[in-house]
Formats: sequence, C-alpha cells, structure tokens
Amino acid sequence: MKTRIAVFVSGGGTNLQALIDFAAAGNLPSGELALVLASRADAYALTRAKEAGIPTAVVSRKESASQDTFEEGILSKLREYKIEMIVLAGFMSILSESFTSRFPKRILNVHPSLIPAFCGKGYYGLKVHEEALARGVKITGATVHFVNEIPDGGEIIFQGCAPVLDGDTPEILQRRVMEEVEWKLLPKATEKVAADILADKDYPKMDL
Ligand code: GAR
Repeated sequence: MKTRIAVFVSGGGTNLQALIDFAAAGNLPSGELALVLASRADAYALTRAKEAGIPTAVVSRKESASQDTFEEGILSKLREYKIEMIVLAGFMSILSESFTSRFPKRILNVHPSLIPAFCGKGYYGLKVHEEALARGVKITGATVHFVNEIPDGGEIIFQGCAPVLDGDTPEILQRRVMEEVEWKLLPKATEKVAADILADKDYPKMDL
C-alpha cells in the first residue's frame, strides 16, 4: 500500500521534478504521485507532470468566484483521485483554515528561507531572496513544514542551510537554495510523512 499524494504547483515545478526523479530512483516507496494540481493553466510544472505520466488538473483562483468555490474545486479533484496527502511545491495560492484543517499533518510546504526568517504573508518565491540579500544575512536556506492556518507557521519537519555569497543576485541565491536544500529535503520529507501515515494507526485522520 502507498499513500496517495497530490502535488500542488503554480510555476516552473523544479521541486515537482525533484519529487518525480526521487520516485523514479525508487526512493519514494511509501508514496505515489497520484495527481499534480496547478493553480494556473500555463504552469510549466504541468508539462513535467505529463511527461512523467502523472494525471493533472487545473483549478484557478482567478477564475473561481470565491475562495470557497476555489477550494471546492480542489476538493472535488482530491476526492476523484482519492488523495491522502498534499505537497505544496511552489503553490502560490493561499488555502483557508477550513481547507487546511481537513488535512491535519497531511499538507507539506517548502519555503525558501530558514523559518522564522523571511516568511509569512507576502514572502514567496524570489521576494524571499531579495529580502535576505537586503538584510545582509550570510546564511539562508529552506524549510519543509506542515501547513496549518498560519502562513508558514506549521510544525517544522526539516531545515537546511546555504551560504549567501558576494555578488549574489536574488536569482543566483534562489538557485543555490533550491539545488543545495529544497530539491533534497522536500522529497525526503515527503517519503517520511507518507511512511508515517502508513505506519501509524493513530495518525490524524483527514476529512475529504
Ligand atoms: C521554490 O523556491 C519554493 O520554495 C517557493 O517557490 C519556488 C517554486 O519553484 N515557494 C514559496 O515561496 C512558498 N511560500 P518551483 O516551481 O521551481 O518548484
């Protein structure tokens, strides 16, 4: 038996690719990448999913009448694919408490800083690295954490660090943090949580 995983994406999907490669190498024995759900139809991550033979869906916040309609659209896809765990891999839409509370300790997120630095509302993607450079930190990194009702506020699963070097631009720093930390820790955390869900009969139940 495997935990059925949905990966939520909005952009390029390099973290999704890291998960696909990790699974292809046989390192995700407890999980199955059962669905890739994108918040925008032009996300390149969808191409990566299709090339890997993973079913895809698009549910757009912009084209949904309200947050409730958006989340109902997502939930109906999760029901269709019998999803048991969600990985946010560069998903740029906010999920409400009524959504996240349905999946206690079953939603993971990767954030490109050492939480609690440079996190919370307004900190996403390149913006995080711009702020790290502006503040002049010498070490940064990424965090994989559970998602709860507080943006970037859930329990931390893994963290890893990367140096900030002279001459870094936000783009160069983003790439280093991805290569050295995100692409390693997100797949590792995904296998850990998928295995915990299978092994622990008292694992928090979901409400789909
Ligand atoms: C990643 O750096 C991820 O940590 C960040 O967006 C990027 C997505 O890249 N996520 C956030 O900022 C969430 N707050 P990808 O589409 O190539 O995986």
